[in-house]
Amino acid sequence: MLNLVEQLQMSLILVCGPMGAGKTTYALEYARATNAIRFSIDSWMQTLYGKDANTLDYNWIMERVNRCHIQIWELASQVLMLGGKVILDLGFTTRSDRKKFVKLAKEINIVPELHCLSASPDKRRVRITKRNVVKDPELYAFEVTDFMFEFMEKRFESLAQNEVEIMVAVNLDNEGK
Ligand SMILES: Nc1ncnc2c1ncn2[C@@H]1O[C@H](COP(=O)(O)OP(=O)(O)OP(=O)(O)O)[C@@H](O)[C@H]1O
Ligand SMILES: [Mg+2]
Repeated sequence: MLNLVEQLQMSLILVCGPMGAGKTTYALEYARATNAIRFSIDSWMQTLYGKDANTLDYNWIMERVNRCHIQIWELASQVLMLGGKVILDLGFTTRSDRKKFVKLAKEINIVPELHCLSASPDKRRVRITKRNVVKDPELYAFEVTDFMFEFMEKRFESLAQNEVEIMVAVNLDNEGK
């Protein structure tokens, strides 16, 4: 029998990792396996702002990502307070993004688990190329170019020491699940 702290810890999962590591795939599978509600940022951004985006302006995009974060947390926190499980697949590229959600969770007495996915850059590049071709609607929101891959690669911030305490490491370097 899990104690209360363990139950609360398992109720919120934050999925992080560099581009193409398999975050959305993992979140889909985890949500199905645990009856969790999943929020994936790419589909929110594509549905709400895809038609409005005519340049690749990072600040323009991040301003809207942050608006989505507010609305996603509004829904996610309701689910959590009703005793449900939530998995957030929101990129979590930077330490400050991760810290923001850890803080929001703590405000409702939840310690999230940070599931940190990894795979080599070469494998991730191949996966992104394949995703661009296959266009599985559950995984593909928009075309990711080599330029976008390199751009995001530089932005991913590895875990800080204080984040390691809540980390669950998931190595997806091997093909398949
Ligand atoms: N463990 C795995 N082994 C092989 N291929 C995988 C694995 N996980 C995901 N993939 C494939 O890699 C591609 C990218 O996966 P996914 O979209 O889940 O990555 P992501 O981390 O969410 O990417 P992004 O950073 O763009 O959000 C997809 O085509 C998916 O089918
Ligand atoms: Mg994704």
